[in-house]
Amino acid sequence: MRYRIDAIIPHGPAVKEFRLAPLDGAPLPPWQPGAHVELRFRSRAGNTHTNAYSVVGEAEGLLRIAVQREDQGRGGSRVLHEEFAPGMELELSQPLDSFRLHAGSARTVLIAGGIGITPILPMARALEASGAAYELHYIAHAPERLVLAEDWQSLDQGCVRTYVTQRDGRPDLDALIGPWEEGCELHACGPVSLLEAIRASATAQGWPQQHIRFESFGARAQDQDRPLRVHLVQSGMTLDVAPGKSILDAMIEAEAFVSYECKRGECGNCYAAVVRGDPVHRDVCLTPDQRAQGMTPCVSWASGPELELDL
Ligand code: FES
Repeated sequence: MRYRIDAIIPHGPAVKEFRLAPLDGAPLPPWQPGAHVELRFRSRAGNTHTNAYSVVGEAEGLLRIAVQREDQGRGGSRVLHEEFAPGMELELSQPLDSFRLHAGSARTVLIAGGIGITPILPMARALEASGAAYELHYIAHAPERLVLAEDWQSLDQGCVRTYVTQRDGRPDLDALIGPWEEGCELHACGPVSLLEAIRASATAQGWPQQHIRFESFGARAQDQDRPLRVHLVQSGMTLDVAPGKSILDAMIEAEAFVSYECKRGECGNCYAAVVRGDPVHRDVCLTPDQRAQGMTPCVSWASGPELELDL
């Protein structure tokens, strides 16, 4: 479905909110807290991008998304920041429910890191509207990275706590999450390092995995990544993968037989056993046992130049 950009609103140095109107004047599609849309667009250079962004909310019949400029990413967010202006058009998918809100009967903990506030805000609004007990913990590196302030400041401030790590260090996650009790649910969205720390803390405090829900974001490729040669043992294929491209995308391009869903290291669907090589894990879904034997090629990389996967 095509949308017209009605307004672009800056939030701090790296985030722009896009307010979008369906092109044909149709009503906005239904969406649930935690939903995301996929944007498809072309850069001036002719490159096609597909980027997923959480729905922040609605305003006067407009759909709101917020885009953080990722200089280490694949360029889509830079294109949106630099090349798109009000009046221009974008293609959007229907809202997709990949990060559902599960309200706890006793307590719902919401944790957002940086731009990870985007799917968490509609969850907090929904919980507040239903009278459920919730806590929103919003963590950012610097005060200007606590974005969408009007949104979280309009919530019940007794339920919201903010943390600035540059000033105060990372908050005590153990205290913030607390021990597992029946009727508790945890939802978190943020960079992988924060989500890993949250999972470790929650697991150590007895939280069952099914009551911990994550959505991750941010570029997974790292500056130190080196070109990788990937051998697929079962199909006999060898792929040379350049840093910045995912191993999974290289396999899809080569028409290797792979299954996948999220492409973000969250679902585990692309899991592949490692026959040889040293994976660098960047998922947020595998257990230590699974990591000892395999990896998620949608986001993970390897420390050596070669990797053998049982695919
Ligand atoms: S496709 Fe979901 S973890 Fe790789």
